Amino acid sequence: MPQHRITLHDIMTNNLDDLFEGAKADVLYSDPPWGEGNLKYWRTFNGQKGHPVNWLEFVKRVKFLWQRHVTGACFVETGVKFEQDVIAIFGQPQGRYVIRYSSQNLPNILLGWGEQPRLDPSDKKGFDVPFTVLSSLPTKPRSVFDCCVGLGTTAKVAKKLGISCFANELNPKRAERTMKILDFSLVAKD
Ligand SMILES: C[S@@+](CC[C@H](N)C(=O)[O-])C[C@H]1O[C@@H](n2cnc3c(N)ncnc32)[C@H](O)[C@@H]1O
Repeated sequence: MPQHRITLHDIMTNNLDDLFEGAKADVLYSDPPWGEGNLKYWRTFNGQKGHPVNWLEFVKRVKFLWQRHVTGACFVETGVKFEQDVIAIFGQPQGRYVIRYSSQNLPNILLGWGEQPRLDPSDKKGFDVPFTVLSSLPTKPRSVFDCCVGLGTTAKVAKKLGISCFANELNPKRAERTMKILDFSLVAKD
């Protein structure tokens, strides 16, 4: 039976060890904030206006969490403007896909390190992007980790695939919505 765990931590200061308790996820998939402005936006939205944010340090933390808690591939969605910053920290990706959440917007970029999906998620929208990636990996994952799960797109994919979800989110109100998707055990909060 897949098991689902969630924490409400700030990934800048918490290593999420209580989320995993020594276990590992097979894959990381996340759409974290992009750039300094967006990081500030999410802080303010969480009632933390004026909290110091540093974009490159944030990207380093996402990479750190991947290396600490995940055995397999990592997929990170970002904006075209921020792609090179992510690559500078993570290294050259094995996969790069142009995805569109809305035709009016600039495309988003999905970068992947490690084993890549057999089906190309390019030009898919919304839920279909992570679903295509996670459902067509050569090695079927038994679990997925999202360090910034928000309203739970990754949790919905885990539900559809019948795999375990390790989730974390800064904002308790957003996490509450995600907790309605799957039967999560709430492990800890800041
Ligand atoms: C672009 S949204 C995630 C979208 C997500 N795919 C969904 O289905 O809603 C980015 C999320 O990162 C969270 N976040 C921002 N800073 C964070 C931090 N330091 N630690 C953990 N989560 C953070 C925000 O609260 C927000 O929910």
